[in-house]
Amino acid sequence: MSISIAVESVVFVYPDGTRALDGVDLRVDPGERLAIVGQNGSGKSTLVRQLNGLLRPTEGRVLVGGEDAARFHVAQLAARVGLAFQNPDRQIFAGRVRAEVAFGPRNLGLRGAELERAVDGALDAVGLAEMADHNPYDLGYSRRKLLAIASVLAMGTPVVILDEPTTGQDARGVARVRAIIDRLSDERRTVIAISHDMRFVAETSRRVVVMQAGRIVLDGPPATVFAEPNWPALASTYLEPTLPALVGTQLGLGCTPTDEALVAALLARGGRQARRLARAGPGQAPGRPRAGPGQAPAGR
Ligand SMILES: Nc1ncnc2c1ncn2[C@@H]1O[C@H](COP(=O)(O)OP(=O)(O)OP(=O)(O)O)[C@@H](O)[C@H]1O
Ligand SMILES: [Mg+2]
Repeated sequence: MSISIAVESVVFVYPDGTRALDGVDLRVDPGERLAIVGQNGSGKSTLVRQLNGLLRPTEGRVLVGGEDAARFHVAQLAARVGLAFQNPDRQIFAGRVRAEVAFGPRNLGLRGAELERAVDGALDAVGLAEMADHNPYDLGYSRRKLLAIASVLAMGTPVVILDEPTTGQDARGVARVRAIIDRLSDERRTVIAISHDMRFVAETSRRVVVMQAGRIVLDGPPATVFAEPNWPALASTYLEPTLPALVGTQLGLGCTPTDEALVAALLARGGRQARRLARAGPGQAPGRPRAGPGQAPAGR
């Protein structure tokens, strides 16, 4: 079920001469949970379009499951790599929500109850089960975005790519996207999410790839990518570390990219202080400072 993806020295030039990828190397192991971030126009969408054959490299090559993607037709790649477009309106074409979601799995050969199960499961996952008979264009933008995700989920591909899945989503929509990523990850499927939301990225990814001007400039776990030495590189592509990463660094706790990591580091520090105080014995409790040399006891 799980397959690897590799991008080797890929350059991509659009017909108008725009060099959108300028030598990208990236290896994604089966089951990884990866985020791609970077300023507008840094090449994120162009990179993921190479992975499902929507675009083919100008130079270099893409390997899907260890095989050169150039040997696969788009339909063959679609069975391996699912991509939910950044702009759902470029993806959606059917007149009914259910038909839209059924299109991909039907192309993969699913029929009857198996097809129904794939469609219902995907609609449930994005919370659109009630809207199966609606026209996609009667849904708001955020729901069309979820519909585009459902169409990809229904295909059951080992690699799922979500291009800016949280754009336009309220807290409930973001929670849905997180739950979808968790589930895919539990199923050992590879998830690649592009996002401008650093909090979402830190909380949902185990690896963050930072792009700038068609190149990868940082690649590592959130605690490394959002750590102080990388702040200048982040700033170069108009990104900021998450708030808990800034606070943890200010407090000398190291890089704590999520609220959870920050709280854990604060509790650990609190525990260390409490143990130190306990070892030092009575009189050391917080709020009862002992007068040391050069320190006048209170009240004098
Ligand atoms: N169809 C196209 N024809 C020509 N140039 C394009 C086309 N699509 C994208 N580009 C250009 O390629 C570069 C990379 O674009 P891309 O859409 O991959 O960036 P991105 O990182 O996904 O940006 P965003 O955060 O805005 O989605 C940009 O300079 C963009 O203007
Ligand atoms: Mg994009």
